[in-house]
This record gives sequence, structure tokens and C-alpha cells, in this order.
Amino acid sequence: MSLYLPKIIGHRGASGHAPENTLASIQCALDLGTQAIEIDATVSQDGIAMVMHDFNVDRTTDGHGPLILKSAADIQGLDAGSTFDEKFKGERIPKLSEVLDLISAHDVVLNIEIKTTLGWEEPTARAVAKTLKSHETVQDKIFISSMSMLALDIFHDLMPDLPKSMIVYAIPENWSDRMMQHRCQSLHCYHEFVTADLAQGLHEKDYHLNVYTVNDATQAKALFDLGVDAVFTDYPDKLLAAL
Ligand code: G3P
Ligand code: MG
Repeated sequence: MSLYLPKIIGHRGASGHAPENTLASIQCALDLGTQAIEIDATVSQDGIAMVMHDFNVDRTTDGHGPLILKSAADIQGLDAGSTFDEKFKGERIPKLSEVLDLISAHDVVLNIEIKTTLGWEEPTARAVAKTLKSHETVQDKIFISSMSMLALDIFHDLMPDLPKSMIVYAIPENWSDRMMQHRCQSLHCYHEFVTADLAQGLHEKDYHLNVYTVNDATQAKALFDLGVDAVFTDYPDKLLAAL
């Protein structure tokens, strides 16, 4: 159930260097020696788990509108590279299965954040679980996270043995009850809300505290001094060099 987690997690791959959540970004993170990588997973209209952060494709691609209203084939026809840099023109939104294939030969931990469009928690969690079940050999490298407790609960019923993390922005007062209720092993929060007491309280219950998004090495060091277990960063190379 538990999983060794390196201290530096590449956020959406190495999204400071390459278009977020693309195979180029994940390959870049691997090339930089990143031992843990986070990606966001959602679902296409035809039920395929796709790697994408936003509900709409507008910010990161040349397309428009909600991703869940598009087929996987249409989604993969979009250019997900040029908005980051022309040199990545033609980079696609990957299927989750393509990411699993890419990491299968690498000694890396993959955090799959289930990103749900409100109302689509069940098809999204099901698509992620279905893809993972068809990639049995990578399952020991995976942990799941979500801001949607409903998605975490649905996923738990499908794959109860995979470790799970609850993502919040600020820390809820009843974090301990919620962690237990949703059977999570770690808590992810925005870095400004970290305190030494929180880290200690989580560790006393054998939970981990992972914090987003930290691109400054001095800030990362201060967070580790407070007891943070891991940080998400767009520049894993910067933090790996400094720490
Ligand atoms: O779990 C950490 C982080 O991925 C949450 O924020 O919006 O980048 O997915 P976001
Ligand atoms: Mg994420």
C-alpha cells in the first residue's frame, strides 16, 4: 500500500522546460534525472483516459472547448506544443496508456492526479482505473491523487490497493477525519499553508505531506526544514541540483 516517494516531484512532467503533461515534458523530466513525476488525468467523450490539466483545451492547445466533449482521436489531433514554444509544434495530448508505456522502462514513481470535471467523477475514475488495470507491470510505481473526494472513493472501490493522496489548497480543520474517511496516505497542499505542527501531526499518523508548486530552491529547503516530505516543481533540475 505504501510507496517510497522521492523528495522532488516533476509537476506535469518538467513543465518549466516543455509543454505540460505531454510526452515531451515527461521525457524531459526523466532526462533530468527526476525520480518522481506528476501528471493530470481526465477522460475523453469516448471513455479514454487522457493526460490534461484543464477542463477546456483552450489554454494549452490550438483547440477550443471542454475536453470531455471530444473523442480521443479529435483530442490527439490538437497541437499541444506550440502555445509553449514553436519548437514543440505537433506535440499531442497523450493518452494515459502512452505515459504508462513511456515510464514502464524507468525507475520512477508516477503520481496520477485524477482531474474531474464536476459531474464526471465516475467516468474519469473508471477510465484511469481501466487503463491501469491493463498495465499491470507499472502498478507498483503509481500513486493516485485528487481534489475530488468522490473520485478518490470511486477509484478506491476499483483499485483499493493503490496509494492515494487527498489534494487541498488550504488545510481543513478536520484533515485527520477526512484522510481516514477517504483512505488516503498523503496530503497535498499549497505551500503557503504548511506549518511544522501540520507536518508533525501528519507524521504522527504515518501520513506524508507533499506540497505544490515550489520552483525556488531556498523555499524548498525551508519547507523540508518544516517537515515536508516532497515538493512538486516545474523545474526538477533546479531543485535536484540545489538539494
Ligand atoms: O497535487 C499537486 C498539484 O498537481 C495540484 O495542483 O492544479 O497543478 O494540478 P495542479
Ligand atoms: Mg496536478
